[in-house]
Amino acid sequence: MTKHQPVMLEEVINCLKVEKGEWYLDTTFGGGGHSLAILKAGGNLIALDWDKENIEIGRKHLVTACPSGVSYHLYHLNYCQLDEALDKSQVKSLRGILFDLGFSTDQLYKRRGFSFHYPSEVLDLRYNSQTGQPAWQLLRNLGREEIQRSLEVYSQQPRAAEIALKLCHLAREKKITVGDVIKVVEEVGFKNQPKKIHPATKVIQALRILVNQELDNLRCGLVKAADSLKEGGRLVVISFHSGEDRIVKEFIRRRQDLVSITKKAKRPIKEEIAENPRSRSARLRVAEKKGEGND
Ligand SMILES: C[S@@+](CC[C@H](N)C(=O)[O-])C[C@H]1O[C@@H](n2cnc3c(N)ncnc32)[C@H](O)[C@@H]1O
Repeated sequence: MTKHQPVMLEEVINCLKVEKGEWYLDTTFGGGGHSLAILKAGGNLIALDWDKENIEIGRKHLVTACPSGVSYHLYHLNYCQLDEALDKSQVKSLRGILFDLGFSTDQLYKRRGFSFHYPSEVLDLRYNSQTGQPAWQLLRNLGREEIQRSLEVYSQQPRAAEIALKLCHLAREKKITVGDVIKVVEEVGFKNQPKKIHPATKVIQALRILVNQELDNLRCGLVKAADSLKEGGRLVVISFHSGEDRIVKEFIRRRQDLVSITKKAKRPIKEEIAENPRSRSARLRVAEKKGEGND
């Protein structure tokens, strides 16, 4: 059973304009909340997740939860490989594509170092444990400057230089844990940090983006997504930090074949934020593939 609450669910289904019999792609299946809503609205679904466990759990869940009269395919793939999923499913073009970026609540409990609530966990931070280097190893192999740059760019960390230096030294001595990151942040001090969140959260966020090459994957996934939409098809993206949102906004602006539907990013209403605090930083943007009606 998933603990993840889908963000801006009704808004997503409305913005995708889900129609019976059309094909939709959920590039970030997670706990399957958005995917199931697409199926319940009568859409056929292709769904991907880079985390194999999410796809395996989803496969078991959809067998019973999927309504009749619709079809679905689930794949353990990076959304940068979404064209492979379309080929395997023999679907040529899509009526709507969703990206709900970042991590799912379930991943906080997977002992991969995603949460500051579990200080003894070794810092892995990979969505897909079968590829790439875990965070503790990457920190050991990278230079101080590169770690500093990631902290600055991916989380606007005000004490990036000091934190990077300490992480860099520590990583060469031991397999870094979540608790080590918390200790380093506490030693450096956390003046000028947002009060609502734990000061180590932003450091872990930056390292997660680095480990999974999230912004490169996003750039690649967006291009393939826009190429796969049929005329009038919708691209819906929910991002959770300014770096992602900037990439999405710029991408939509530059693509000649897309029209922006959301001049300003949509935000969750305050009732949703109260019920699901994780939604507070969500920004939703929508674009439509140009057709005869909107050239
Ligand atoms: C915010 S969650 C999605 C939640 C989902 N919409 C729901 O309703 O449960 C983001 C998911 O994207 C997955 N993910 C992250 N990067 C990915 C990538 N490059 N390709 C495919 N999936 C990715 C994560 O493993 C995570 O499960």
